[in-house]
Amino acid sequence: MPTTKRALRAAVFDAYGTLLDVHAAVARHAAKLGNKAAPLSALWRAKQIEASWILSATGAYEDFWSITDRALGHAMQAHGVEDAALRADLLSAYRTLGAYPDAAPVLEALRGRGLGTAILSNGTPEMLASAVDAGALGPLLDAVLSVHPLRRYKPDPRVYALATERFGCQPHEVAFVSSNAWDAYGAARFGFRVFWVNRAGGPVEYWLDELATVLPGLDALPPLLRA
Ligand code: LAC
Repeated sequence: MPTTKRALRAAVFDAYGTLLDVHAAVARHAAKLGNKAAPLSALWRAKQIEASWILSATGAYEDFWSITDRALGHAMQAHGVEDAALRADLLSAYRTLGAYPDAAPVLEALRGRGLGTAILSNGTPEMLASAVDAGALGPLLDAVLSVHPLRRYKPDPRVYALATERFGCQPHEVAFVSSNAWDAYGAARFGFRVFWVNRAGGPVEYWLDELATVLPGLDALPPLLRA
């Protein structure tokens, strides 16, 4: 497991799935979906992320709100759910996903340890502003960095460079925290010190047992980090 002894400047967090519960939108309307709720939510997320990779790999761009909308349409169709009002409600709920209960206390603890804090996300600035507001995370963050001005998605290294530019530091001075294994891998390749939050306790992906520190939840983080 990598050591955590060298000086750090900032702790930078992925948003969706790491600080924000991506399954909260479907959970709010689960009664209308019955046993389709969990698989529909999983497919929505999978197709959203797949679209980001395919667009990036082909040099194309369509913003994250738009691909979130299209992925929802796909997931509903795949599960035979035809309900325009429900689709609108689910999409609208995505703007105000709740933060995981451990998000705010951990951001506060890291600030107390002298670290800068930021989000670095595929989300558009509008989506992120609205979710950060809904989760009451704004006062705990020094920066909310969106890929949108670059028109590229993670794991393009130019995206991770937004964080080193913002904090005026080297990659090894950033602790990057993500529950998305592929994002954690991209961040490790960029040179960040990576913490993979394996909330689901799933099998190791992308050599993260060697490239990252694996944590069961965010609250394991503060004792490991200080400026
Ligand atoms: C993000 C997605 C990858 O917030 O979860 O960037």
